[in-house]
Amino acid sequence: MEELKKKAAYEAVKTVKDGMIVGLGTGSTAKYAILKLGEMVKEGLDIIGIATSLESERIARQAGIKIADINDYDSIDITIDGADQVDDNLNLIKGGGGALLREKIVASCSKREIIVVDESKIARSFSYPLPVEVVKFGWKRTAEKLAKLNFKPHIRHGFVTDNGNYILDCEYDKLENVKEIEAEINNLPGVVENGLFIGLASEIIIGKREGIEIMRKENK
Ligand code: 5RP
Repeated sequence: MEELKKKAAYEAVKTVKDGMIVGLGTGSTAKYAILKLGEMVKEGLDIIGIATSLESERIARQAGIKIADINDYDSIDITIDGADQVDDNLNLIKGGGGALLREKIVASCSKREIIVVDESKIARSFSYPLPVEVVKFGWKRTAEKLAKLNFKPHIRHGFVTDNGNYILDCEYDKLENVKEIEAEINNLPGVVENGLFIGLASEIIIGKREGIEIMRKENK
């Protein structure tokens, strides 16, 4: 699986050019992209990275990539990030690594959001438990509200996000009308953000045993 992740990540970094502001994703697949970009920087590539987590920032700095504050740039040229699951419409479930809030902010400011995955992440319909970032205050009450939306929320034990919040991993029988459900979850008091990324990915680069497959959205 690591080879497939690497294949996808290495394909994605080919899109990065001199002078770009580059969003750096979080997780094991995005890490391959960050490390490769670090090698390219050592060979002369001039980029500025915007990290989606403290961990990615640490990896990037160590790899020699300059890191900037997202507040200093009104848009990001390309972001390369991973995903936990991808459906046929290029919608995603993210947050397995707990970085969904910063990842979604960065994705929403990116001209091009490239998602790198191995082939096991592609699904007809979602089944991966949906991570929901909630504030600590009253998290059990927020979990009850999620249960009323037919989720089975489980607190991610011993985990606090970079933003000081908790994650509820929410099981479900079926996840349909994802655009509506994304908004409905975010409308609950106590919810900061959820891991449904609807219409944010411009392309999915899939590392497969037999090579690379790219799924593209026309208008992003
Ligand atoms: C972190 C994420 C990651 O992109 C997602 O969990 C995939 O990680 P990996 O590449 O390690 O499978 O959303 O919040």
